[in-house]
Amino acid sequence: MPTPVIMDVDTGIDDALALLFAVAHPEIDVLGVTCVAGNAGLEQVVDNTLRILDLAGAADVPVAAGAARPLIAPARSASHVHGADGLGGVALPATTRQASSESAVALMRRLIMQHPTRVTLVALAPQTNLALLLRTHPEVAERIERIVFMGGSASVGNATAVAEFNVWHDPEAAAIVSDAGVPTTMYGLDVFNVVAVPFDRAASLATGSHRVGRVVGELLSHRVALSEDESLQYTGFIGDAGAVCAIVAPHLVRFESLPVRVELAGFSRGQTIVDRRPYAGEDKLHGLSDEWSRSEVALGIDADAVAELFLETVLQLPRD
Ligand code: BDR
Ligand code: CA
Repeated sequence: MPTPVIMDVDTGIDDALALLFAVAHPEIDVLGVTCVAGNAGLEQVVDNTLRILDLAGAADVPVAAGAARPLIAPARSASHVHGADGLGGVALPATTRQASSESAVALMRRLIMQHPTRVTLVALAPQTNLALLLRTHPEVAERIERIVFMGGSASVGNATAVAEFNVWHDPEAAAIVSDAGVPTTMYGLDVFNVVAVPFDRAASLATGSHRVGRVVGELLSHRVALSEDESLQYTGFIGDAGAVCAIVAPHLVRFESLPVRVELAGFSRGQTIVDRRPYAGEDKLHGLSDEWSRSEVALGIDADAVAELFLETVLQLPRD
């Protein structure tokens, strides 16, 4: 039986790659997609998501709009990474359909409650929609198999020195989700930052004859120039798509169950503090006794095999 999933996205170049992979993979059943502001504004995210699903031949998958801004913090732009349109300027035909009349929270609740088995939530964006869902309808928690999220880091950050973008964008939401009592799998920067398709492979896809392959190649070829130093400009990363690969190929990822907490204040706001001490628990000796939620944290990955899995899967989508 394929794994039933709902994807929460802020499409986003690598969200687009993740959607294409999920639709293409026979062991994933995409029940619905919900959108949230993050890499781009909400309207743009919805439009990008519909266009990508159209491209994948998945125009029947319902798409709903959710939060246009984080719970407390203001929305921030990521156009320096994903371009003004969120898709790095990659041209896709206009969609002929509309988002669902249901809100993201309503769609998630309905799909979760009506599905005969537990559903996996795949969160590839700031977790605002998930936090609203879990606070508004706590009964869904026991119908969720687990939440696989791209976010956080057990080492360095990207939005700040210690905070990863998705968690940093809405730390309160990430904290609510982390403490909701639902099993979580954290696909953070420790693995996110290493899975890339070689530049020449992406470039040849971009000019090839495979319709979806061309878009994948163009998305992968988008160059993120955060620095004038060429060696620091990155391209080819499958990003969020790696989190979906980890669902179907967990043997390619090294996970460890670790206590994780979201920092909400100060310079480290948005950091995921991952307790990797071999003998955790000295806190109790210091009189600090509150328990931390645990997450299955991805700490290592067979990057080449995951990149290959990604490419061979998306190339199963229609050639023309
Ligand atoms: C995350 O931020 C976004 O730019 C990506 O889509 C990914 O979800 C990485 O920090
Ligand atoms: Ca994303």
